[in-house]
Amino acid sequence: MESEMEQTKQTEHTEQLQDLFTFIDGSPTAFHAVDNLEKMLEGAGYCRLEEKDAWTIEKRGKYYVNRNDSSVIAFSIPEKMPKGFHMIAAHSDSPCFKLKEKPEITVDEAYLKLNVEKYGGMILSTWLDRPLSIAGRLIAGDRNGMKSFLVNLDSDTAIIPNLAIHMNGELNKGFEYNPQTDMEPVIGEASAKEKLFDMLAAQAGISKEEILGSDLFLYNRDKCRVVGIDDAFIAGPRLDDLECAFAAMTAMVNEEPEDYINLCVVLDNEEVGSGTKQGAASTFLQDVLIRICGKLDMGAEEYRRMIAESFLISADNAHAMHPNHGEKADVTNRPRMNGGIVIKYHGSQRYATDAYSAAVMKDICSRAGAAYQPYANRSDIAGGSTLGNISTAQVSVRTVDIGLAQLAMHSAVETAGAKDIAYLIDAFRTFYR
Ligand code: CO
Repeated sequence: MESEMEQTKQTEHTEQLQDLFTFIDGSPTAFHAVDNLEKMLEGAGYCRLEEKDAWTIEKRGKYYVNRNDSSVIAFSIPEKMPKGFHMIAAHSDSPCFKLKEKPEITVDEAYLKLNVEKYGGMILSTWLDRPLSIAGRLIAGDRNGMKSFLVNLDSDTAIIPNLAIHMNGELNKGFEYNPQTDMEPVIGEASAKEKLFDMLAAQAGISKEEILGSDLFLYNRDKCRVVGIDDAFIAGPRLDDLECAFAAMTAMVNEEPEDYINLCVVLDNEEVGSGTKQGAASTFLQDVLIRICGKLDMGAEEYRRMIAESFLISADNAHAMHPNHGEKADVTNRPRMNGGIVIKYHGSQRYATDAYSAAVMKDICSRAGAAYQPYANRSDIAGGSTLGNISTAQVSVRTVDIGLAQLAMHSAVETAGAKDIAYLIDAFRTFYR
């Protein structure tokens, strides 16, 4: 009996990992990630609402709203009068290269390369000498309306070549890559000029002349895979933060709300500070919460009572202790991959966790049977920040910052624990329940 249960759990876990890999492999940009999340929502019977339209919201209804094609908020309304909001937030974007306007550069009538700039704080060297492709969105239309087209060349199109060791003998002593001069990808011979936008337009089913705007990015072509003896780890691009986005949405579409309105919030632009109209610093979440309350006939006081009863789990990946650099981890808070959900603490509150929200999260984990572990920066290392404390400036609710332990954050290929995603999904499902 015991082993049969083990077996079922194992099969479920393998399927979850496979679904995670399919999601990440199919989400080269935030636009694609949100598109794939919306497919999960549509599959679970969620109705799309437009921000510009009047909303009708009903008890037991399931809805989602999109902003800029790169952020999405899904919510489900319980049968009973709700006490508050149960929210999980993650981010849809990852550090990468963005194509500039007029990107094509020819070199000596020999090569065609692209003018790109950094999006977020990536480890530049990891983008060299590997096949890359191009994806994003195109905008076409006129004064009667602009239309957005998702595009993904989905082929080995670009490569950023290193300089040979013979021409830079100092390379292994540490080299500062210049984002303008060292990181331009070559995409063909000079004769390929003008072909890139023909290919992208053809994919969108429009002509090159119709393209009025574009948000295009380079992405790593590597697929996610399992790595290590006993299938210990997973490696792939964009684990930060698509692991958490996937876990949150998987939990969302599999649970029915009881006493609270459930929300799954996946926002763009975390990697560049969240200060956009669709980022965590925007009014997007607050706008949605206020509109939901209005449609449920709640006034300003009821809205604030709902907020006072609400809880936000801000989910963004965390740093595992590094096998070669144990000294970079804190003295006593040293998360490891497969050690469970990481609860993040920061004295100066760059992580929103406090004693209360940590206690709530630990209780959720215990009820879900999910392992958890604490993270803190070394006191002499600044560390990063995330969505939680930025979002609470707009919507001030009790918040815990969590994530999964991973290595090489913001590398073109990141490494995480193979067992942790199951803990995260189980904890999120318990929270929504
Ligand atoms: Co992140």
